[in-house]
Amino acid sequence: MLRRTLPRALSSASSSLHGVPLDATSINANVRAAEYAVRGNVLERSMELQRRMAAGEMLPFKKFVPCNIGNPHALLQLPLSFHRDVLALCISPHLATDHPSAFNPDAVERAQKYATGMGGGVGSYTNSQGILAVREEIAAFIAERDGHPAYVDRIYLTNGASEGVRMLLTCLLRGGELRDGLLTPIPQYPLYSASLTLLGGTLVPYHLNESGDWGVQMENLTEALATARENGVEVRGIAVINPGNPTGNILAEDQIKDIIQMAVDNKLVILADEVYQSNIWKEGASFSSFKKVACDMGYHGEDGDERLQLVSFHSTSKGYFGECGLRGGYMELHGIGPEVRAEVYKLASLSLCSNTVGQLAMGMMVNPPKPGDASYQTFEKERGDILSSLRRRSMMVHKALNEMEGITCNKADGALYAFPRIRLPNKAVQAAADKGIPADEYYCLKVLDETGIILVPGSGFGQEEGTLHFRTTFLPSEDTMEETLKILASAHAKFMDDHRD
Ligand SMILES: Cc1ncc(COP(=O)(O)O)c(C=O)c1O
Repeated sequence: MLRRTLPRALSSASSSLHGVPLDATSINANVRAAEYAVRGNVLERSMELQRRMAAGEMLPFKKFVPCNIGNPHALLQLPLSFHRDVLALCISPHLATDHPSAFNPDAVERAQKYATGMGGGVGSYTNSQGILAVREEIAAFIAERDGHPAYVDRIYLTNGASEGVRMLLTCLLRGGELRDGLLTPIPQYPLYSASLTLLGGTLVPYHLNESGDWGVQMENLTEALATARENGVEVRGIAVINPGNPTGNILAEDQIKDIIQMAVDNKLVILADEVYQSNIWKEGASFSSFKKVACDMGYHGEDGDERLQLVSFHSTSKGYFGECGLRGGYMELHGIGPEVRAEVYKLASLSLCSNTVGQLAMGMMVNPPKPGDASYQTFEKERGDILSSLRRRSMMVHKALNEMEGITCNKADGALYAFPRIRLPNKAVQAAADKGIPADEYYCLKVLDETGIILVPGSGFGQEEGTLHFRTTFLPSEDTMEETLKILASAHAKFMDDHRD
């Protein structure tokens, strides 16, 4: 029998170990400090309430409405038939022979193409940068969208856009004493603030202009840059979210040009987060990518031309696809030379590759069925139904919010959110202070307790000093949306009455 004892030297060492166990005090302080409001205190409270409801407790409402996160399928948005059929065939290739009539020929053909491109199927690691056949689809999509070429060796498949942003920031922020910073919009999607905290970077805020439809004001940007530099921060890049989360603004080409010029003049890497590029609601508006505008301006990003350095991110999680759980995404590097691209490749290879299902989903998202394909009509109808319903819902939410006392809300021109400003009575602000929480969190908790509607306090995204907001998605299905808004309106009215000064 093996003696299950440690050698003497080791066992005596373990009793007098000077090592530090992993606990809440010894964990990396950056992990402790990182905050992600979308899944913060309000969500925690909702989970507690869900447990209590499951245990039989009567609450003032019958169901929870998760408006806290842009997670369309969690609110019953339907998957697209072609995309799921191809995935099913890639995961279980025998389905094509077992059930030949169940699949359109273009779905079978696409699955075969991916199978050839993957070699060993979805269960095998791929190239760390992603399956070449998928990168070719992405390059073709970008070239068609922008009217400028895109190259497979500059495209990296990632587990969602989040991983791409983290990888890029890992490359950009040098840590230590250097105080590298990133110009970050306020309000922002907290992936940026949390990643900066984790990686020891400095968030350099530039405020979006609420009274100007949440647009970027160049003077805010240049001032933020100058102040940060005066304070010893080495500003390395600028994050731009277009269309905006949580604000819903869409940048016009002129604004994009100004930002690009500023980045060139100040040697800043642009991180263009364009995950909402298919969610455009404003009549007559269209999406222009940073890559397109950069190329139009003559910044073609050829090797050796690093005047403009741009990294663009896209995702399977948003748009009309909404497949957040598949964790598909890509980033395209532009104006970033082969040595750095090789380092990014090495970084990607540390996790071997992004998940294969997400990679395939990304390929299909950018290369859906075309006119003449067997799946085209169904795809067009499914896509059209999702987008037109989202557009109607964005308008319903905007109208309903603006009718509530003390609330003003800019139109969501794009993306999946409304970010209304709320003016709360002093009594509410005082009650929140007494509890030691921000007033908008206090408001969201009260709404949750009353209605089951889960909102995110504006403080989690950053907001102008002295203002309060919350963020809501407009993802509840259209038939339940009217009811949800009525419930929210009456909870809001009750809140205001209960806290009237
Ligand atoms: C602006 C923005 N960027 C990135 C992401 C992350 O997307 P993914 O699911 O692709 O990681 C989100 C998710 O909500 C987002 O809103």
